[in-house]
Amino acid sequence: MEKSRHKQQLAVILLLGLWFPCCLTQTTPPTRANLAPTPSGTPKAQTAQLKVRLAGYPRKHNEGRIELFYKGEWGTICDDDFSISNANVLCRQLGFVSATGWTHSSKYGNGQGKIWLDNVICNGGEKSIEFCKSRGWGNSDCTHDEDAGVVCKDERIPGFVDSNIIDAQVDEKKVEEVRLRPVVATAKKLPITEGVVEVKHKDGWAQICDLGWTIKNTRVVCGMLGFPHEKKVNKNFYKLYLERQKNSYLIQSVACTGTEVHLAACQLEFNKPNATSSCAGGMPAVVSCMPGPLFVQNRSLKKKVKTSSNVRLKGGARLGEGRVEVLKGSEWGTVCDDRWNLQSASVVCRELGFGSAKEALTGARMGQGIGPIYMNEVKCFGNEKSIWNCPFKNITSEDCQHMEDAAVRCNIPYMGLENSIRIVGGRSSYEGRVEVQVGSKWGTVCSTGWTTKEAMVVCRQLGLGYSMHAITETWYWDSSNVTGMVMSGVKCIGNEMALSQCQHHKTVSCQKAAAKFAAGVICSETASDLVLNASLVQQTVYVEDRPLHMLYCAAEEDCLSKSAAKANWPYGHRRLLRFSSQIHNIGRADFKPKAGRHSWVWHACHGHYHSMDIFTHYDLLNANGSKVAEGHKASFCLEDTDCHEGVSKRYECANFGDQGITVGCWDLYRHDIDCQWLDITDVKPGNYIMQVVINPNYEVAESDFTNNAMKCNCKYDGHRIWLHNCHLGDAFSEEAERRFEKYPGQINNRIS
Ligand SMILES: *[C@@H]1O[C@H](CO)[C@@H](O)[C@H](O)[C@H]1NC(C)=O
Ligand SMILES: *[C@@H]1O[C@H](CO)[C@@H](O)[C@H](O)[C@H]1NC(C)=O
Ligand SMILES: *[C@@H]1O[C@H](CO)[C@@H](O)[C@H](O)[C@H]1NC(C)=O
Ligand SMILES: *[C@@H]1O[C@H](CO)[C@@H](O)[C@H](O)[C@H]1NC(C)=O
Ligand SMILES: *[C@@H]1O[C@H](CO)[C@@H](O)[C@H](O)[C@H]1NC(C)=O
Ligand SMILES: *[C@@H]1O[C@H](CO)[C@@H](O)[C@H](O)[C@H]1NC(C)=O
Repeated sequence: MEKSRHKQQLAVILLLGLWFPCCLTQTTPPTRANLAPTPSGTPKAQTAQLKVRLAGYPRKHNEGRIELFYKGEWGTICDDDFSISNANVLCRQLGFVSATGWTHSSKYGNGQGKIWLDNVICNGGEKSIEFCKSRGWGNSDCTHDEDAGVVCKDERIPGFVDSNIIDAQVDEKKVEEVRLRPVVATAKKLPITEGVVEVKHKDGWAQICDLGWTIKNTRVVCGMLGFPHEKKVNKNFYKLYLERQKNSYLIQSVACTGTEVHLAACQLEFNKPNATSSCAGGMPAVVSCMPGPLFVQNRSLKKKVKTSSNVRLKGGARLGEGRVEVLKGSEWGTVCDDRWNLQSASVVCRELGFGSAKEALTGARMGQGIGPIYMNEVKCFGNEKSIWNCPFKNITSEDCQHMEDAAVRCNIPYMGLENSIRIVGGRSSYEGRVEVQVGSKWGTVCSTGWTTKEAMVVCRQLGLGYSMHAITETWYWDSSNVTGMVMSGVKCIGNEMALSQCQHHKTVSCQKAAAKFAAGVICSETASDLVLNASLVQQTVYVEDRPLHMLYCAAEEDCLSKSAAKANWPYGHRRLLRFSSQIHNIGRADFKPKAGRHSWVWHACHGHYHSMDIFTHYDLLNANGSKVAEGHKASFCLEDTDCHEGVSKRYECANFGDQGITVGCWDLYRHDIDCQWLDITDVKPGNYIMQVVINPNYEVAESDFTNNAMKCNCKYDGHRIWLHNCHLGDAFSEEAERRFEKYPGQINNRIS
């Protein structure tokens, strides 16, 4: 029997055409007569990377008036001769995969200042707009009524680093980096929370004169360094020492309002060159910061610093980054990216125990959520305790989609975690045999019990993203410099910041030959993320009594419970709990079976290849969590049944096709497919929890495993079945989850 499939045609292109008819057909906008373009030269390429930003109104994260930062000044581009090729170049510069259209006649309002480029003609393949033909920088006969804009496809170039987010605020001011130089010798421990503020400039590090220094300045400095809060500092303690130092004051005074995310965004008064030693009556600015709970070593202090329990980050590859999710009532939801900015992102970062925000990300750059969307147009001032205290708009269903989920990248304190671990011998910098430093000795890690969870911690500690594979034999990698084994028995929960924080043996004991079985990892910047559509399960559930004579194939594939073997075949029937499951890939990489196609297994009965032995678990649990019915260890044929608008299908089961689930697509197992059930023939009437777990053994890398389980309350009266509260494992608040878990027990008590 074949898996039945809907084949739907998508008509996406048409839709785009409706938005921007002019641009897609490449009709040239009105060009003035007599001013035929003279696309003579290519303006001289700049040494530093040209900065591009979207501006104007109604601007979105992926559309707006184009502005270029050149010679210290932001300016626009005239629409004469503009084309979709120009837009493609600009969109890619902004980090989007391509353009879907462009606009003329200052659709997003008139810009100000220079009109930097005119009669721009790109082929479309240029790396930057400055390499396209034009009349040259600043040579234009246009007015700002003709400012050009672009509409970019809302899909980011994988791994694109957005550097113009802060720049749009900071422009050309000179401060780049800030550090604290500890003064007290004992303050060697990381993170450094107190010390002299030093700012980096082109010739090195310099101090700031503390005359007029305020606690608001301290707040901004602490935020940049990854700390949520500032503390008062006893200046007198440092005075004597600092007066004896030779100080170089780059900055004479600082006046922050406290909501800035970077010192460069504050009002700064720079000293004149070669006049950097004056700070009469003052001394170098010294600050003290309060770290978030993750970074506090002192246990008694750790209890005191609390973080928010109704905001969280999901799907980020590194500590302090992820999609923003907020708790409303008992269910988690996402935030829409309209007007999402660094101020709002900083409020989220600080309430989670990090510093201010490094980046406010739009367009679901950290993957899409799947639950409700709660907030839109969040506009924090920057001093709110929680994002819930910021002005925002409630969502109405047409407003937003998960494609617009907001995310953050927060400043986190420097912990030096990556210095005590390394990977060696691999084919790229993202893979290798794991070596850790224990005491002063570097060595390998025993691979007994080495799983995805441990590998996840290694990749995170190295700042290399997610773990694609946990490798248990590494002898085939370059072993010329293999060191001894220094760690064994490693067991991580998965959320640790460093391997040394995981449980491990006190003294090394590894049964196998060390070099051959040293642990290794392959890390990746992106990963898939599978989730089940819970509401579809709830809506499609029913009970079927299926005659045994129709179940030979199912029996062969082990899709029935054990008692089926004792049945009087082909007479009688099995009672099946049936439902549809729709498995979405909401991550940032395609989901592919771990095994290559050479090892897929042909199932003659159903007529397709199985690419994963265990892809999902279906179970029915009683009040104390024991299984009363177990679905077969469902092994499936993975494919894209359908996709979101604008995403094309890539995987197809039929004819030994490539198996997998594309980002933005889903695989549907309809309720009437063979084996898509739980055999409940032996189950007594009562209340249960039904549970479906995808990728239960972490065989394939995902950015988030906490949403792999889907659970429902299940009521069975002996004839019919009802499901309630179907939800993903991470969708409810802790309290709501406890209430949910109690459901079968409570009802049982009432009945008995
Ligand atoms: C500043 O000092 C440096 C060396 O200390 C010197 O080379 C330079 O000419 C001085 N600049 C000015 C403007 O005085
Ligand atoms: C921990 O912090 C408390 C309160 O600030 C302080 O009294 C104590 O000495 C600290 N303990 C250590 C070990 O630093
Ligand atoms: C959003 O809706 C809730 C009720 O669902 C209401 O209490 C709240 O005031 C609304 N917030 C805003 C900003 O409109
Ligand atoms: C092994 O060590 C030698 C000497 O330190 C070094 O040159 C070489 O690159 C190392 N090989 C690997 C694979 O790390
Ligand atoms: C989940 O299933 C429901 C019910 O069929 C459907 O309305 C909804 O669009 C699905 N959700 C997603 C994210 O596809
Ligand atoms: C679990 O529940 C079943 C019935 O619901 C009961 O027979 C069994 O003893 C319970 N097991 C434990 C360990 O409590």
